[in-house]
Amino acid sequence: MRDRQTAVKGTSSGQKIRTSWDAHTEWYDGWVGKDGSTLHRELAIPATLELLAPRRGERILDIGAGQGVLAPHITRAGASYVGIDASTRLLQRARAHHGRIGAFLQGDASRLDQVSGIEQATFDGIVFLLSIQDMDPLSSVLEGAAWALRGGGRLVIVMIHPCFRVPRQSGWGWQEERQLQYRRIDRYLTPLAVPMKEYANGRQGQSLCFHRPLQQYINDLASSGLVLDQMRELCTYKTSSGPHARAENRAYQEIPLFMGLRARKLPTR
Ligand SMILES: C[S@@+](CC[C@H](N)C(=O)[O-])C[C@H]1O[C@@H](n2cnc3c(N)ncnc32)[C@H](O)[C@@H]1O
Repeated sequence: MRDRQTAVKGTSSGQKIRTSWDAHTEWYDGWVGKDGSTLHRELAIPATLELLAPRRGERILDIGAGQGVLAPHITRAGASYVGIDASTRLLQRARAHHGRIGAFLQGDASRLDQVSGIEQATFDGIVFLLSIQDMDPLSSVLEGAAWALRGGGRLVIVMIHPCFRVPRQSGWGWQEERQLQYRRIDRYLTPLAVPMKEYANGRQGQSLCFHRPLQQYINDLASSGLVLDQMRELCTYKTSSGPHARAENRAYQEIPLFMGLRARKLPTR
């Protein structure tokens, strides 16, 4: 069934959009906590680490760090960790959970050059862990990341797959005669800004998540001097045991709901 909330067509209007997750802190920290949700532990963090391959002595910047679940994984590899986020309240949780091993800065990812403590070409790796779809405008966010990355450094994005999971515009369907679970996509090419429900108080529209087609990610990376060199299409870690389990599990293994991208900054930029 189509969700009753409305998706707003278009993004990047130029007006300041509130994307901080302050309003979602209680719900999000309850779900994710210090060590990450099952999604983080089973899928998102392993995919990030596989693509990033952090090394001893490197500096890694986590953009949209939330409560900093990536920090221990980076420091365990011998690299140093800096997390940046727009949300004061999530940063308080991040410092309480991981402040002893990492540095956490407040700032806007679309204006990274104005964040005190972030300097040009000083990071070996940059990560967006389930965060880039909460940020806008994409071109400014990627330009800022490219600015902070050293030449040859790598940028890793792990996100919901934009082709198969469009907020409020996609879902699973069941075809009885073929005993088939299929994926329904209602819209794809049009960028959308989707108001998020505030879990704490039931209001909606206080912050947005952004759908963009895959071509926008690839083209905005390239415009920022970031060249894609790896991609992962990641299937859900979930399994079904219900009456349609066989068909559902086959669909889960065929249709990737998450995606990982790795790009490198051209050494000359
Ligand atoms: C879905 S949460 C992901 C948090 C964390 N990476 C994780 O996996 O748990 C998205 C985060 O992006 C942050 N965010 C959204 N827009 C931002 C911006 N323009 N600058 C910095 N952080 C932003 C939000 O405050 C929120 O903490």
